[in-house]
Amino acid sequence: VTARALATALALAAAAVGCDALPGRPTAADRPVLMKDVTDFGVLWDLRCAGCHGADGSLGGAQPMADPVYLALVPRADLRRVVADGVPGTAMPGFAAAAGGDLTDAQVDIVVDSMRERWGGPAPAEALPAWAAPPGNPSRGALAFATYCARCHDDGAGGVLDPAFLGLVSDQALRTAVICGRTDLGMPDWRGYVPGHPMTAREIADVVGWLASHRRSRPEKEASDG
Ligand code: HEC
Ligand code: HEC
Repeated sequence: VTARALATALALAAAAVGCDALPGRPTAADRPVLMKDVTDFGVLWDLRCAGCHGADGSLGGAQPMADPVYLALVPRADLRRVVADGVPGTAMPGFAAAAGGDLTDAQVDIVVDSMRERWGGPAPAEALPAWAAPPGNPSRGALAFATYCARCHDDGAGGVLDPAFLGLVSDQALRTAVICGRTDLGMPDWRGYVPGHPMTAREIADVVGWLASHRRSRPEKEASDG
């Protein structure tokens, strides 16, 4: 390095420092933030969840998360596992690095805890069914469907008995929809299909068995058998 080049470099460095004071120069706050450094729940939600679960946690294609009934239903450990690992065979991606996602463990915790803090609420007065349970008996489920669902989904209206729809979602997604409804879209929860007559745990499982029996293949089975 010649003395002349060194002097030039030092002069440039000094000029660069001085430039911080010039108006209009970008500041540290304008530097692009790397995905791994994002800690704001709103930003994480908008970047990674809003496209499917809705801008404010509702009115998306997938189950709303801004739903106190859902957040009271799902145990934290299961919620975290789904966000980290995704649901194989469905459109729900895993967000943890181990599942091919780009969120750190700390970011997964921020998403999960913020959802519960911001969108959760007191548990419903009525006893909640379990979040997960095996599908029940399809023929009993057909009767339960006639009682609780047919007034809106007569002959499978809305596509709920369509193998193309059922091939894209897990039994758990169906169960979650039956318990929590889509209150953002006008589908009540398990307490409201027949006013004053909540579905029993067995009826919930059976109706899921009935819906699932219309599938040609089960995504979660294919994924775990593969
Ligand atoms: C008061 C009307 C109403 C009743 C009763 C009702 N649903 Fe729905 N359901 C809807 C609406 C509205 C949607 C959202 C729009 C759509 O997907 O058609 C919906 C959506 C769904 C979905 C798709 C969920 C999703 O996230 O895309 C499933 C599955 C479903 N209903 C199953 C059922 C079952 C099973 C029952 C009975 C236990 C039931 N529904 C009772 C109105 C109803
Ligand atoms: C590309 C679309 C997509 C994106 C992006 C997405 N999800 Fe999902 N999510 C889905 C679908 C579809 C399901 C239903 C999967 C199934 O069939 O079980 C789902 C299911 C879930 C469930 C489980 C619901 C239940 O049944 O208990 C949770 C929790 C969830 N998503 C949270 C998130 C969070 C948090 C993010 C962002 C970090 C996110 N999702 C991003 C599509 C998406």
